Amino acid sequence: MFDKISTIKDQIVNFNSSDSNEIEQFRISLLGKKGSITNLFTQFRNVPLDEKKEFGKQLNLLKNLASSKIEELKSNSGSNKATKSTIDFSMTAQPTVLGSRHPISIVKEQIIEIFAQIGFTVSEGPEIEDDWHNFTALNFPEEHPARDMQDTFFINKEMALRTHTSSVQVRVMENEKPPIRTISPGRVYRNEAISARAHCFFHQVEGLYIDKDVSFADLKQTLLYFTKALFGEETKIRLRPSYFPFTEPSAELDVSCSICGGKGCNVCKYSGWLEIMGCGMVDPNVLENCKIDPKVYSGYAFGMGIERIAQLKYQVNDLRLYSENDLRFLKQFKSEL
Ligand code: DAH
Repeated sequence: MFDKISTIKDQIVNFNSSDSNEIEQFRISLLGKKGSITNLFTQFRNVPLDEKKEFGKQLNLLKNLASSKIEELKSNSGSNKATKSTIDFSMTAQPTVLGSRHPISIVKEQIIEIFAQIGFTVSEGPEIEDDWHNFTALNFPEEHPARDMQDTFFINKEMALRTHTSSVQVRVMENEKPPIRTISPGRVYRNEAISARAHCFFHQVEGLYIDKDVSFADLKQTLLYFTKALFGEETKIRLRPSYFPFTEPSAELDVSCSICGGKGCNVCKYSGWLEIMGCGMVDPNVLENCKIDPKVYSGYAFGMGIERIAQLKYQVNDLRLYSENDLRFLKQFKSEL
């Protein structure tokens, strides 16, 4: 009797068909009125008493096995009919193609991250800006050359595409009370002929810190921290006196050339130094224009070009590459976050 169970079990396991008639025949041969499993149930009463328990258990398992096999074959035969001709389930999946981040986004995020560590928040302003925020509040004299048609894309007499992110300084100072510690990344526009070294739009990050007793030493220390974090611990900085209408005193910041380590190469034009930003103490006139009392508060500001930093980090020497969307260029930044 137990032999019969195992023979039928083998039959069930080895049976395969997708033809619904064949499956139905198979079902009848097992579970029909005269089917082999039904037959075993009839013979149950002839099983010796001490084997009844085990036999009953195995017989039930056999019945369940038969039922579930038949169900499975039935459902496959149904689904095969509908999909066989169109879908190949054995085909390997296509690998997902990952994109890469734009180098300007990568560098922008890095800069934000470095300043976030020392408490700077991010603020943004509009790219279409009025004369007050882009020029007048920043202490640009009426006849300043930067207001000239050659540099600025004017929309009308009052409005223009912002020429720098310093405009966001003004907006922040007008709207917030000191202490203010913020950086402002964004796109800026200048009416320049496009070449390897100039473009009609590019990106800047502006920085601003206003509080009581802020000094030039604070500015220097912050920029030293920033440049070391960005270019490496061995980086040195130097400040050269300069002029901007909105800062007094003003300076330009050079970092030791990260490519030759300061020894001199064609990137730093054999000087060992690279200019990366303008900076200075916020001019008291600018504070007053923004309703901040220059007798109580002082502050520093700085501004840098993101393309310039990316150029130094990745040695990209043609500005046009950043906006041409050539995949051969963009794909090189795949490994970067
Ligand atoms: N706005 C300047 C530019 O576009 C950069 C700059 C220089 C920003 C000095 C500043 C600063 O905040 O203090 O060239």
